Amino acid sequence: PAAVKAKINRLTPLRSKRVRVLGWVHRLRSQKGLIFMVVRDGTGYLQAVLAGKLSQAYDAPTLPTETSVELVGNLQAVPEGKTAPGGHELSVDYWRVIGAAPGGDDAFTTLFNESTKPDILNDLRHLVLRSETASSVLKLRSMLLSSFRQSYAEHNVLEVTPPCLVQTSVEGGATLFKLDYYGQDAYLTQSSQLYLETCLPSLGDVFCVQESFRAEKSLTRRHLSEFTHLEAELAFISFDDLMTHIEAIICDTIDRLLANPISKELISTLNENYKAPSRPFMRLSYVDAIKWLNDHGIQHAKEDAEGNPIKDEDGKEIMVDHVVGDDIAEAAERRMVDEINRPIFLYGFPVEIKSFYMKKAPGSSKGGQVFTESCDLLMPNVGEVVGGSMRISDVDELMAGYKREGIDPSPYYWFTDQRKYGTCEHGGYGLGVERFLAWIANRYTVRECSLYPRWTGRATP
Ligand code: 4AD
Ligand code: MG
Repeated sequence: PAAVKAKINRLTPLRSKRVRVLGWVHRLRSQKGLIFMVVRDGTGYLQAVLAGKLSQAYDAPTLPTETSVELVGNLQAVPEGKTAPGGHELSVDYWRVIGAAPGGDDAFTTLFNESTKPDILNDLRHLVLRSETASSVLKLRSMLLSSFRQSYAEHNVLEVTPPCLVQTSVEGGATLFKLDYYGQDAYLTQSSQLYLETCLPSLGDVFCVQESFRAEKSLTRRHLSEFTHLEAELAFISFDDLMTHIEAIICDTIDRLLANPISKELISTLNENYKAPSRPFMRLSYVDAIKWLNDHGIQHAKEDAEGNPIKDEDGKEIMVDHVVGDDIAEAAERRMVDEINRPIFLYGFPVEIKSFYMKKAPGSSKGGQVFTESCDLLMPNVGEVVGGSMRISDVDELMAGYKREGIDPSPYYWFTDQRKYGTCEHGGYGLGVERFLAWIANRYTVRECSLYPRWTGRATP
């Protein structure tokens, strides 16, 4: 009888039928004259049993993994007491090699082992993707993005696609990638925020999933040169509404992932101890965080004007307490959130360490220090995953913001116009998708959460 061609994750209704599966040899072993093969097609894994006499051009027991194959046979539920992916097994009566894979020194299984150097793994990212862990992370990433999209639809927030090629900076000139654009200067976008703001009077609340680019000079676990930026902007809201909305979107998205058996399984495989965070999230003011760090003896290296650590005569970094006005560095931030061990909204940063567009907190000027209506959401193991704020809505205040940061306002004319043509109280945020995924999937670095990660010096493969 003719066989039904099917993807592995759609096989269950085809039990006791003849099926045709196409995929890659994932694992192979022979036992008592039978060959057990696990074949993979991206949608799942299938155990197949081959009788040795069926082998044609290849000797099945030495068939290299990653060979692409066609398998045809009867699909059967595995007998009770036995386990197999999907609970079924294919008794193969016809099989064929589609594309050979090398054996010997070039065999897939000999390319990787525990001592493989990270550089080699990075060069071989295209093959690493075939591993169970990497593919699980990327499957979860796909489901995470669709869950976010569903959450936004439910919150009445519309998706837009802003440009990547821009002529304005959002988060400061230091991390801009500059390029020649028909003889003019242009940049790869650092954030789509300013464009989202222009959509409010046209489309209402909006979000985007767009690549952002930062020429980050530091090599850290959580910095990429290109990352997927989930950003949203909301009109006629208060600062409290903003934080409540971020919390709602994140919790709805997680609930959706945990309600779906496939993503639930991916999360538990990658992060055995994952627990959905409880609401409401803790809110900690910047000033209280500085106090918390000092109370817990968490210091930071003293820096010169350029931000380089100052060393003593023995070449050791000089450690000092935090003071109000300091930017809380990655290490201190992570120590704090790991110790508290739950999501934290850190809010109310000083105006000097934030961007030109941020709204000042009403009545916040204390002892000469001015604070902003800004918040970062910190997650254990990662630190900052979301950065957001209320935006300056008054045109004169915005002009003063440009001035304070030494920004020429002329390329920003379209952004300034938002305050001229019917301004409104509004705010928004950006969430680093790789950082969020690193938190849910318990990955050590965001590099594992990107298909082809880019960081200082690397754009291959
Ligand atoms: O805190 P950031 O720089 O904020 C903005 O860009 C705002 N304009 C966003 C907005 O309000 N629409 O970046 C937002 C988030 C960070 O919290 C972090 O998760 C992620 O983007 N991010 C990075 N992720 C990986 N590598 C980098 N180099 C990142 N820089 C920021
Ligand atoms: Mg930030």
